[in-house]
Amino acid sequence: MRDRAKELLAWYDVHARVMPWRVGPAERAAGALPDPYGVWLSEVMLQQTTVAAVRDYWRKFMALWPTVADLAAAEDADVMAAWAGLGYYARARNLLKCARTVVADHGGVFPTDRATLLTLPGIGPYTASAVAAIAFDAPETVLDGNVERVMSRLYDLHDPLPGSKPQLMTLAEGLTPKTRPGDYAQAVMDLGATICTPNNPACGICPLRDDCAARIAGTAAEIPKKTPKKKTPTRTGIAYVARRADGAWLLETRPERGLLGGMLGWPGSDWSDAPVEAPPLNADWVELDATARHTFTHFHLELTIMTATVGSDAAPNRGTFIDNQQFSPSSLPTVMRKVFDLAASVQRND
Ligand code: ADE
Repeated sequence: MRDRAKELLAWYDVHARVMPWRVGPAERAAGALPDPYGVWLSEVMLQQTTVAAVRDYWRKFMALWPTVADLAAAEDADVMAAWAGLGYYARARNLLKCARTVVADHGGVFPTDRATLLTLPGIGPYTASAVAAIAFDAPETVLDGNVERVMSRLYDLHDPLPGSKPQLMTLAEGLTPKTRPGDYAQAVMDLGATICTPNNPACGICPLRDDCAARIAGTAAEIPKKTPKKKTPTRTGIAYVARRADGAWLLETRPERGLLGGMLGWPGSDWSDAPVEAPPLNADWVELDATARHTFTHFHLELTIMTATVGSDAAPNRGTFIDNQQFSPSSLPTVMRKVFDLAASVQRND
């Protein structure tokens, strides 16, 4: 049996993707390691979306808050606004909690071992292993969707995900080398993202093609198999977009607990099978001829949009009017941004 880790590392030495938070294999060979704060931030963001989408968010965060101490001292609302669009806002709240814990309990220095990293808010098994391996070269094993796919195929494992995860972890651990574990962790993930892709894997140029049981069996394209998910339900709701004659918008900060907690949004009903109307003020509400649609982890949402123009004496029972100059639509979570875009486009058409 060839040394798969060695082959993968040789491939990574040539093909490592360039990422702003990454220290490439040549610099690591010269003894450089990345800033743990930047690595942690990138890994939390990468759980939300693609490398391409994370780049700009990561640069923005690093420019606004260059160190973990800067982030710990930030205003909650500023961090939530900078995170807007990335989704799953509990992560942003945990990000802040984690930064504050690193400062309060660890003197502003990231712990270097997986076990201590795991005690920090928002750091789960994947992030703890990723930070320990990538930032500190600890021989930890990362298992994300990419690595699951690579391992399923290398060993031609047909058991469906997510049930097969423990088995895949054991297989992945078996391959993790003691030398260059940080490069290795990133190499497997890069392989999964660029060659061992979910559809049309590029087996012909894969550094592990001669060792890959699924390629040899001709089953690479069929695995990993997945246990079918239950159908995603659809919930509905009503969003109220009120604008004062001076241009101010009625917005509210959502309660800390619950979906989009702590984010800015339009006042509205609950989101359910039968939402209860709850206009934030008395006005001549007009229903928009457009629905805002958004998919969350566990449900689809369809929002009816009600709009109203109100006088300067309007007294809302919830929310606050924010001046048009102070209001930045980019600080809204995506679903609220969709409501804004629809409401604004209809207003322009009138
Ligand atoms: N996906 C998530 N984290 C990654 C990393 N550090 N390198 C490559 N792909 C990743």
